[in-house]
Amino acid sequence: MSNQAAVLEEAKSALTVKSLSIPKPGPSDLLVKNHAVSTCPVDWKMRDYDFAIEKYPTILGSDIAGTIEAVGSSVTGFSAGDRVTGFADVILSKDARNGAFQQYTILKDCAATKLPAATTFEQACILPMSVATAGVGMFVCMDIPRPPTQSSGGFLVWGGSSSVGTAAIQIAKILGFTVFTTSSPRHHEYLKALGAESCFNYSDSSVVDNIVNAAKASGQKITAAFDAVSENPSLPAAILEAFGGGKLCLTVAYPEDAKKPAGVEISNIVAARVAGDQKDFGKWLFGEWLATALTNGTYVPSPAIEKVDGGLGALQKALDTHKKGLSGKKLVLTI
Ligand SMILES: NC(=O)c1ccc[n+]([C@@H]2O[C@H](COP(=O)([O-])OP(=O)(O)OC[C@H]3O[C@@H](n4cnc5c(N)ncnc54)[C@H](OP(=O)(O)O)[C@@H]3O)[C@@H](O)[C@H]2O)c1
Repeated sequence: MSNQAAVLEEAKSALTVKSLSIPKPGPSDLLVKNHAVSTCPVDWKMRDYDFAIEKYPTILGSDIAGTIEAVGSSVTGFSAGDRVTGFADVILSKDARNGAFQQYTILKDCAATKLPAATTFEQACILPMSVATAGVGMFVCMDIPRPPTQSSGGFLVWGGSSSVGTAAIQIAKILGFTVFTTSSPRHHEYLKALGAESCFNYSDSSVVDNIVNAAKASGQKITAAFDAVSENPSLPAAILEAFGGGKLCLTVAYPEDAKKPAGVEISNIVAARVAGDQKDFGKWLFGEWLATALTNGTYVPSPAIEKVDGGLGALQKALDTHKKGLSGKKLVLTI
């Protein structure tokens, strides 16, 4: 038996499908046979900009869902045959065995979730990167108390229709916040169904005033903001400033040369921390919270899925499509 993989042989090259050997799990690893994988923006950034890669050949990808083939000697709570999703952490470990874009991935047990029978692999594979990013941003960077503790007040999610934004909306709503978000108008109804209270068009030149006025009119103060896209973080920062300051967490660092807003505490997310210095948090987020939330239906895979035919051989094209820009959807490939 072999392991077919979409391999990045050298910097800034195309992915090519190769036959490799099946990796063996270390003590706290899961060997997962992937059934579906999804693309993330960082995949094409790594491919095209030689970003966050230390050695070649390598295997990209963070989002997988599949069946456990074998578990390491110190793993508890998972067994061969379990259906799981999880964060494939090649971006942090620099080890190609941890990449998503292959038939068999080595997953760390701190970043894996057992799936309820009703969740398909195609639905599940869009969860890991978005949940890790929203989770690290809100619970680690912004230090928001974990459930069952409930929060209150206004919470801004900028870029709500992005994959990460939909996760942040759902988690903020579950935590008890009143969620204000931005996206293109065509996604507003969907984002309300996920838990947003009010949606605004980020292309509107008065979007900052519109959000501030709407929050004030509803008696809400916005002192926490999650910028899922971070293309222009001065806009969510201006909203916090209008309420006297607060916490802003970003998926892409605040521009060096931009004016820092008064009273706004800025933090930068590194989603892969769930498999690094935040393993205990990752175990809670993936092993407990997400598993329960999927089972009881309080959290649903989001946003919409667009299937790409062709398996591993279609990943090169899928990354090109993602690079051109997606709107309110994730690309999913059945392996
Ligand atoms: N630091 C980390 O650890 C980390 C982790 C994950 C992701 N990221 C980064 O976070 C970003 C989002 O990732 P993703 O996977 O969620 O991306 P994605 O789903 O591919 O993002 C697509 C969405 O971005 C929205 N968008 C585009 N320009 C926008 C703007 N100016 N304002 C608001 N929304 C805008 C679009 O909204 P409409 O269609 O509604 O116009 C679209 O739905 C990427 O840059 C990614 O690399 C960082």
